[in-house]
Amino acid sequence: MEIHTSSIGEWKKSGVASCIVVAMRPGAAASFPLIDETATSLLESARARGAFSGKAGESMFLPLPGADVVGVLAIGLGDNTDPDAETVRRAAGKGIDNLRAHRVTRLAIDCSVSWPVVPFIEGIALGQYRFERYKKPDPDAFSGEIDDVVLVCDAPDTLHDVRDACRYAERVCRNTNWARDLANAASNDMTPAQLALDAHGIAEKYKLGYECLDAGRMAELGMNALLGVAKGSKQPPKLIILNYRAANDVPTVALVGKGITFDTGGISIKPSDSMHEMKYDMCGAAAVLGTMRTVGRTKPNLNVLCVVPAAENCVDGNAQKPGDIVRAYNGKTIEVHNTDAEGRLILCDALAYTVDHYAPDMIVDVATLTGGVLVALGHYAAGVMSTDDALCAGIEAAANATGERVWRFPLWDDYSKLIEGEHADLSNIGPPRQASSIIGGVFLKEFVGDTPWAHIDIAGTAWGAKNISYLDTKYASGYGVRLLSEWIRATAGAGA
Ligand code: BES
Ligand code: MN
Ligand code: ZN
Repeated sequence: MEIHTSSIGEWKKSGVASCIVVAMRPGAAASFPLIDETATSLLESARARGAFSGKAGESMFLPLPGADVVGVLAIGLGDNTDPDAETVRRAAGKGIDNLRAHRVTRLAIDCSVSWPVVPFIEGIALGQYRFERYKKPDPDAFSGEIDDVVLVCDAPDTLHDVRDACRYAERVCRNTNWARDLANAASNDMTPAQLALDAHGIAEKYKLGYECLDAGRMAELGMNALLGVAKGSKQPPKLIILNYRAANDVPTVALVGKGITFDTGGISIKPSDSMHEMKYDMCGAAAVLGTMRTVGRTKPNLNVLCVVPAAENCVDGNAQKPGDIVRAYNGKTIEVHNTDAEGRLILCDALAYTVDHYAPDMIVDVATLTGGVLVALGHYAAGVMSTDDALCAGIEAAANATGERVWRFPLWDDYSKLIEGEHADLSNIGPPRQASSIIGGVFLKEFVGDTPWAHIDIAGTAWGAKNISYLDTKYASGYGVRLLSEWIRATAGAGA
């Protein structure tokens, strides 16, 4: 999407058919320099009918037949001077179906009064995402998208900061949509080896360090928890590492993402009804890889490491069995009481290796770890657990800024007691149906030593949310790319 600025005069001269976007408040006159009297009276009569009043979050598309513009998209701002960004994002998302129906590819945004244009762009960029890789092309369907946006006002020079913020936000949304493509791909295509190829593509594109440990190397290093999960699958596991170095004297943050490309549950097999959704069990990996695209592009003043343990949790005669005991990279032994609690098994080796090998200053993992987080929070917030209040506050601030919500759970020692093993140091599960998300958290905590760490359980937010207009429920949400991109931007900016 190209985003630029223009004066009203220039824009009028350019004569290209666009949809004009205006933002309205209740009670204010519907007079906007970009639209003519016809459009103004249509807006006023819509208001008189009560069809559109300017309330926060409203969105109305008015086609303008015969005019040299396609129509007007009116966004309601409400009475507050600064409407909530998420409200604007969702108002933009609500407009998408109409924009597509009218085959709009260009927007001219009225910026003669200041309003939150950045979340509007985000709502459009995320809302127009489609995943049609496997669909027969429909020659009658609109396959275009909004690829040109012009911010218009009398003094376009004053819009440069807004324009740059819009460009940045659109880029992060594009990286989110890239992560969604990875997640939506079927697991017969999105294997651990394919994840490694996609990560390698990022490394090439942005000149990042790339390394990929194969099963042989993992065995030498003693990553038996990860290897145990992969044993029942024909797909060889990978430990994928991307390394962005800003400088030697700035802190290093590590992002670790769960990359289970399919989770059958293993011998502790899952029920079949919604097992197909377990192709999404690599959404943590997609989130951290998508974030590395932001990092590669924006080059923050912070070293960023990205580590993705990737495996398929499958069943065959060689599969790991309940009761098996494995020794993890850090020497701790784990009794695998349930082969379906596999995310923590691949993550624990990845976390311990990251801490040991790279000594990062902070480490954040993202994982579709537990069904329990969906029970607790539904699809509308991820669970965050952390050993460090300042780190957690940073994640919470980024969540509030992006609308990718988090809610903190405790990691009290009482929970750690529940994962003591019977015959090994640790058990990979706790008592049935009790605080399973926290149990996942305290398990991982055993592998990060003293490094400030946060764990984000995205099993609820990675897909499936209803009523978020800019996220089509049919697709993975890409949750985490916007959150982590913002966290890194803020952390680097604060000179942490
Ligand atoms: N990938 C699943 C978690 C999951 C479940 C994500 C539903 C999204 C939707 C994970 O590997 C898993 O199976 N977790 C188990 C752990 C249990 C056996 C302790 C769970 O949450 O049921
Ligand atoms: Mn599982
Ligand atoms: Zn899983």
